[in-house]
Amino acid sequence: MSQENVDLEARLEEQEAFEPPESFVEQANVSDEGIYDEFEENWPECWERAADLLSWDEEYDTVLEDDDAPFYRWFTGGTLNASYNCIDRHVEDGAGDRVAIEWEGELGETRTYTYEDLLEEVNAFAATLRDLGVEEDDVVTLYMPMVPELPIAMLACARIGAPHSVVFAGFSAEALATRMNSAESEYLVTCDGYYRRGDPLDHISKTNEGLEDVDHEVSDVVVVDRLGDELEHDLAENQHDWADLVDDNRGETVEPVSRDAEDMLFLMYTSGTTGQPKGVKHTTAGYLAYTAWTSHAVLDIEPDDTYWCSADIGWITGHSYIVYGPLALGTSTVMYEGTPDYPEKDRLWEIIEKNEVDIFYTAPTAIRAFMKWGKEYPEKHDLSSLRLLGTVGEPINPKAWKWYYQHIGGGECPIVDTWWQTETGGMMVTTLPGVNTMKPGSAGPPLPGIDARIVDTQGEEVDAGNAGYLTVHNPWPGMLRTLYNNDERFISEYWEEYSDEEADEWVYFPEDGAKIDDDGFITVLGRVDDVINVSGHRLGTMEIESAIVGVEGVAEAAVVGGDHDVKGEAVYAYVIPEDGYEGNDDLRDQIVTGVEDAIGPIARPEQVVFTPELPKTRSGKIMRRLLEDIASGNELGNTSTLRNPEVVDDIAKEVQGD
Ligand code: PRX
Repeated sequence: MSQENVDLEARLEEQEAFEPPESFVEQANVSDEGIYDEFEENWPECWERAADLLSWDEEYDTVLEDDDAPFYRWFTGGTLNASYNCIDRHVEDGAGDRVAIEWEGELGETRTYTYEDLLEEVNAFAATLRDLGVEEDDVVTLYMPMVPELPIAMLACARIGAPHSVVFAGFSAEALATRMNSAESEYLVTCDGYYRRGDPLDHISKTNEGLEDVDHEVSDVVVVDRLGDELEHDLAENQHDWADLVDDNRGETVEPVSRDAEDMLFLMYTSGTTGQPKGVKHTTAGYLAYTAWTSHAVLDIEPDDTYWCSADIGWITGHSYIVYGPLALGTSTVMYEGTPDYPEKDRLWEIIEKNEVDIFYTAPTAIRAFMKWGKEYPEKHDLSSLRLLGTVGEPINPKAWKWYYQHIGGGECPIVDTWWQTETGGMMVTTLPGVNTMKPGSAGPPLPGIDARIVDTQGEEVDAGNAGYLTVHNPWPGMLRTLYNNDERFISEYWEEYSDEEADEWVYFPEDGAKIDDDGFITVLGRVDDVINVSGHRLGTMEIESAIVGVEGVAEAAVVGGDHDVKGEAVYAYVIPEDGYEGNDDLRDQIVTGVEDAIGPIARPEQVVFTPELPKTRSGKIMRRLLEDIASGNELGNTSTLRNPEVVDDIAKEVQGD
């Protein structure tokens, strides 16, 4: 290592605050710190700035209507189409030749769609959906991996006003059925399979298995042929090949449907504390305006940038920051099908070099894996095109932040650590890269116009340095509007805890713990409900527990998150076998399979610990905190309040012994 690098490393280790480079600030979309006051003084009209990034069919009358809070309505009276905003208007503005989507397949093949190409594909698939009988407001389920047909299908749905419900391709057949049943969705777009680490992976069998559990008639299923001859499969009578249908409709033009600002754009299911996933409803205007605004202000996206978010479109990050936000701004967005370590551990850096990526947005879990693999992989590539880096999904530890800053950003790119959720639609707490100082490990202040505060259990704001609960005290355009067909659960999950209903004061509770410093910077500590965050993906412990107790031979189970070097958190399952069954490898395998079948491989337990008893309080409640400490290898506190303190040592030995 050169002396210069040694110095830099030593300096980085000690440094606690970083200023954005002057060269970045000079060109930043937002570089005036006055924006915070401006938004506060002019709230809620400040959000016109976000709405101005869109093209409206009919101008809106009112920015915010709050008479039916917390069922807020944004930009009421306005009409628009999301697909028009993401495609047509850029073509009309003369940018038809600009790349919209640059797709990198896992096997090394690429597909480039200009805005003009994207318009043709989306029109053809929108015409296909219409032919199949899809009408405005019909929910279309998209169970697809990272193939270009996924964003094409999303935008085609948006074009005809049919909300989409994307189900992550890694989810199980059962998870697909649950979501289709909940949304009463009669149309499905899926894929025969896809590649993982070079091998073809069957997706259609899993799809068909899921379809068997759908409790209503599914009219049509469209199947993308990704694997060609690699996978033989038959199509049922209501199943159609994507290419056959689309080829028939090539050249068709489908007029984008004018949607009311508050019409649903899509549904996205996410895990909650109960076994039933929650159908988060996002709307056309507020969501699109908010994702466009945050893409502009935080990700600093310009139309001539090449931007890459390495998330999967099956999660909210991909919806907001691969598809809707970046395309609304008319930029070029990269989409990668595969894993970061195939064929080699430098795949992502190769893609950045090749496409001269300006902005890169990824998850801390990926950064921790890159650190583990070593800096020699990024060093093999010229990453000097990068201007800005981002992270999302979980807390990033300062060490990983600094590694990212130095080895990917070359010490010259600001990093935005963005806190947000499926429910918030877009970023809520993060630095503005052209304005704020960065503090590794701390996401930053709430964005302009967002009133986020850290409170104690009584709802009183905590002093700087203390931990409390993150709460949001005014609404924002990208917020969820409700849980699909479940207004009651919407209120009880997010609003009941801290709102004063009588006074009509509504406080949104995201169920995260956090602390705040003297500068108003927020450090998010993690979930305070029974939800764990594995590799930036939210999993409900109840969902996993119910999968485990469904396995023959299991009497009781408790699932908690334990610290993990790379994944952030990992799933730990403590299981009591039923009388007559033994806690052996056989039962362990069945538990793992049971979880994979019910949810998917992402929920696979890191460890299954058999125990004759679970630690319980005298009132019979399982002491989850204690189980978490055991899983994380933390020192165990006082166990004397337990009904059965003697089980704790046995369980801890079992965990450490593995
Ligand atoms: O606990 C927070 C964590 O991820 C949760 C939201 O998960 P999901 O809805 O799946 O959306 C993930 C992508 C937006 C939050 O409640 N989280 C997200 N971003 C951060 C974070 N925790 C700490 N720092 C972040 N930057």
